[in-house]
Amino acid sequence: MTAQTRNPFDARARDWDTRPISRQLADVPPRLLARLPLTGGEHVLDFGAGTGLLAAAIAPHAASVTALDTSAGMLQVLREKGLPNVQTLQQDIHDGLPRRYDAIVSCMALHHVADLPALLRAFAHALAPGGRVALVDLYAEDGSFHGDNAAKGVHHLGFEPARLQRQAEDAGLADVGFEEIARIQRESRAYPLFLMTGRRAEP
Ligand SMILES: C[S@@+](CC[C@H](N)C(=O)[O-])C[C@H]1O[C@@H](n2cnc3c(N)ncnc32)[C@H](O)[C@@H]1O
Repeated sequence: MTAQTRNPFDARARDWDTRPISRQLADVPPRLLARLPLTGGEHVLDFGAGTGLLAAAIAPHAASVTALDTSAGMLQVLREKGLPNVQTLQQDIHDGLPRRYDAIVSCMALHHVADLPALLRAFAHALAPGGRVALVDLYAEDGSFHGDNAAKGVHHLGFEPARLQRQAEDAGLADVGFEEIARIQRESRAYPLFLMTGRRAEP
């Protein structure tokens, strides 16, 4: 999907922050920050930032947060929050990035990207020396989380950590680790989410 293509998230942007699932994800930013200590001087990229639920929590602890997303609607809601050190960047991650970052974070966006190895290579390439990643998404599930996966632009029914770790290491990341960070309750089922941490492999 390019920034020019109609993005299915545009129509969902206004109500995004009050969705039950967004409320259930409220614990993710502080838990992620506990595993990604920041000193206040870092430039951080939030991939698939949406309305900035993660970016807003990170911004007070960083020099800047670049909120990258293809959805104009989601980024408009984020801009209306008036966060002084959060810049929006409406583009596809595969179209190249304007600079390098000390950290790349993401919440629930990986499963929307078809070519995951290319995404991980883009992350590794965009990290400054010593740069780290902290990425949150679903553990492998049976497709019931989104239900209508094709209509919602879902390319992966969650992820197996061992495979994702191999892909991340092949892409140029090191010290890759996983832990459960949250669970989303939908009807009678609980869907666990992982936090994947890692750093740019040194040459
Ligand atoms: C499920 S939403 C998550 C939004 C936010 N991180 C949150 O947790 O509320 C996924 C977001 O990823 C964005 N996205 C999907 N593929 C993308 C791509 N290739 N480049 C940039 N953004 C993308 C979508 O537009 C959408 O806003």
